[in-house]
Amino acid sequence: MATIKTENMEHIRSEQLYAEACEIIPCGVSSSMRKNVKPLLFFERAEGPYYFDVDGNRYIDYTLAWGPLIAGSNHPFINKAVAEQLQRSYTLGAQHPLEVTLAKKLTGILPGVEQVAFSNTGSEAVQSAIRIARTYTGRNKIVKFEGHYHGWLNNVLVSYKPQPAQLGTPVASCGGQPAPEFEDTLVLPWNNLAAVKELLAARGHEIACVITEPVLANSGCCMPEEGYLQGIIDCCREHGVVSVFDEVITGFRLALGGAREYFGLRPDLSVYAKAIAGGFTMAALGGRKAVFDVIREGKTIHAGTYNGASVNLAAALATITVLSGDGCFTRLHAYGHALREHLQLAARKAGLLLVTAGTGSVFSMHFGLREEPRNYADTLAADAALFAKFRALMLHEGIHLLPDGRWYIGITHTDAELAFTRQAIDNTFAGLAGS
Ligand SMILES: Cc1ncc(COP(=O)(O)O)c(C=O)c1O
Repeated sequence: MATIKTENMEHIRSEQLYAEACEIIPCGVSSSMRKNVKPLLFFERAEGPYYFDVDGNRYIDYTLAWGPLIAGSNHPFINKAVAEQLQRSYTLGAQHPLEVTLAKKLTGILPGVEQVAFSNTGSEAVQSAIRIARTYTGRNKIVKFEGHYHGWLNNVLVSYKPQPAQLGTPVASCGGQPAPEFEDTLVLPWNNLAAVKELLAARGHEIACVITEPVLANSGCCMPEEGYLQGIIDCCREHGVVSVFDEVITGFRLALGGAREYFGLRPDLSVYAKAIAGGFTMAALGGRKAVFDVIREGKTIHAGTYNGASVNLAAALATITVLSGDGCFTRLHAYGHALREHLQLAARKAGLLLVTAGTGSVFSMHFGLREEPRNYADTLAADAALFAKFRALMLHEGIHLLPDGRWYIGITHTDAELAFTRQAIDNTFAGLAGS
């Protein structure tokens, strides 16, 4: 492994570009989720698990572009599939044989998924799920959970990161979200089955769907308690409500068949994006044919210029082929486990309280907590400032992390990266203990 430049790591060119970007791009970033990343680095290329910034620094990347890069960057098999497809067509705005190939593949891999509809992003596919559920049930209300992220649109960006005083009531997460646009969104605390049962018993006749991340990856990687997700599915069935799992993060990550396979569950609909196409723009909504029938019957529509774009279909098929390799998910889980153990050991040695939460190749660090958080409210007690220090020191060690404590692992993280990262963790905790 070539040496990673960590001494006197400088970000001069990134700083210049950031200053220029701020003049002509709002906040200098293309997604507001990135604006709190400090320092704000510009990267010029990526290779396998490595990101290279414009100042010549190399990092082992554990952001995976917020999840999609499960096969790393510049993967030869995915490159070949995409390059070959590029010569045949980019996108056609018409049917392509790979749609059928990919749909067959997905219905084979994802337990209980009988049909799929392609979109481009998780946000769009979530909206399709909601519209289909509303048409299917003839009801308007939707139920989501505090701290869960289902894209940036007004009806779901509700109680995403509420302040402690805002817990318990649906609140807008940013400006430009007029109350009428989310008055049909009901919000509950997560991992509380009694709350779901009570709400559906009282108002089930008004509710089209309950949408949940199966692992609360967007707020601390909280794990579902035993029986909780099945309880949601059962309760939904009892009240004629559509159960929707937002598998944008867990899909093609917890297992090839995502949370459906990992937890052995069969919700009515599931949303996939991110890892499904290894970094290309692709999302899919999958689920029961009976629910999708509202489209066949002409009761509603699912649309998008780029839906089923041939290059993205090729990328998805290639990514899924790569992920279908022997032992792929066992290795991902083992790597995640090894990292978490090392982090906890290093924290103990440094006399710092730390828990990690999550499973396999996506987990979060929580400084200052004694127990794994069960839901968003629990994560509010974590020491975010200490994680920010940790992240800054890790960056200096050549490790690139997300700003919220979450780690993503991909198949190009190997023993060499693990060894390097362990050393970086040790150095960082030594720095934290001395600060
Ligand atoms: C669980 C979940 N759902 C939906 C989305 C929205 O997906 P996209 O950013 O592709 O629109 C995200 C994005 O992070 C997500 O994590």
